Amino acid sequence: MKIDDAYIPDRFRNQVALVVGGAQGIGRAIAARLAREGAQLVVADIDRSTMAHTSKEIAKQGAGVRTIVCDVRSRRQVERMVQRVIQWYHRIDILMYVAGVGKGVPFLKTNEKLWDWTLDTNLKGAFLVSKAVVPRMVQQGRGKLVFMASTNTWDAEAELAPYNASKAGVFLLAKTLARELGPHGINSNAVGPGLIRTRLTEPFLKDPKFMSKYQNLIPLGRIGAPEDIAGPATFLASRDADYVNGVLLFVDGGQLA
Ligand SMILES: NC(=O)c1ccc[n+]([C@@H]2O[C@H](COP(=O)([O-])OP(=O)(O)OC[C@H]3O[C@@H](n4cnc5c(N)ncnc54)[C@H](O)[C@@H]3O)[C@@H](O)[C@H]2O)c1
Repeated sequence: MKIDDAYIPDRFRNQVALVVGGAQGIGRAIAARLAREGAQLVVADIDRSTMAHTSKEIAKQGAGVRTIVCDVRSRRQVERMVQRVIQWYHRIDILMYVAGVGKGVPFLKTNEKLWDWTLDTNLKGAFLVSKAVVPRMVQQGRGKLVFMASTNTWDAEAELAPYNASKAGVFLLAKTLARELGPHGINSNAVGPGLIRTRLTEPFLKDPKFMSKYQNLIPLGRIGAPEDIAGPATFLASRDADYVNGVLLFVDGGQLA
């Protein structure tokens, strides 16, 4: 490679990116970043109205964006979503699996409903979406899979048993796909955000006890913004990460240092 080739302007030009869970928060920041760097963007989410608002905002930057309403817990809806992307663009270069839920509940009060909701969204959804997307990437002989894990993949936070288990599972899914799909030219990696200000973390951020504990845990001394995750996540989807496969990239202000 010549030195000049190291910089790739419009990194995602002519690439089709599917951001699942892109209506708000981290997914929205990633979607906006992909669009700004030239991707043909499809955002999918269960939340129709927030997604409509987000796609309008992204379109204002001059980027094309299409949306699909999809509940990742439903195999039928997931298969339909992926079929539509393929009908539109005939390929999928980048999958960002960002959809996720979580709720802080002591283990003694954690019931099967909370377990299923969390595991079905965070882990089974990741499985269903990759099952639907990967055959096309194998045909293409290339593709980038990026899964949203968490610092909780590694660090078990109290009162989040289903969430912690789901995020550990997501990373092992990403690693398994890295091993199996590497020979097909497909990279599979995960991002591990620390504490990021979004709707998901609103209840925690409002709790003074939680905040006083957390403030001292982050060497960079601040809670992250969704945009703090967009750069590292899009790096993993870019040509710069062609030789990065099976990693968990923590983006946590040094929390796990
Ligand atoms: N915010 C943080 O501090 C943090 C830290 C580590 C990991 N994460 C992970 O990042 C991802 C994004 O979280 P966020 O903080 O932006 O939360 P968020 O609530 O702002 O966004 C989550 C998105 O997922 C969508 N979603 C939820 N259930 C869905 C379903 N069944 N089908 C389709 N879409 C669904 C929501 O509608 C929403 O748009 C999640 O996987 C979360 O676990 C977040």
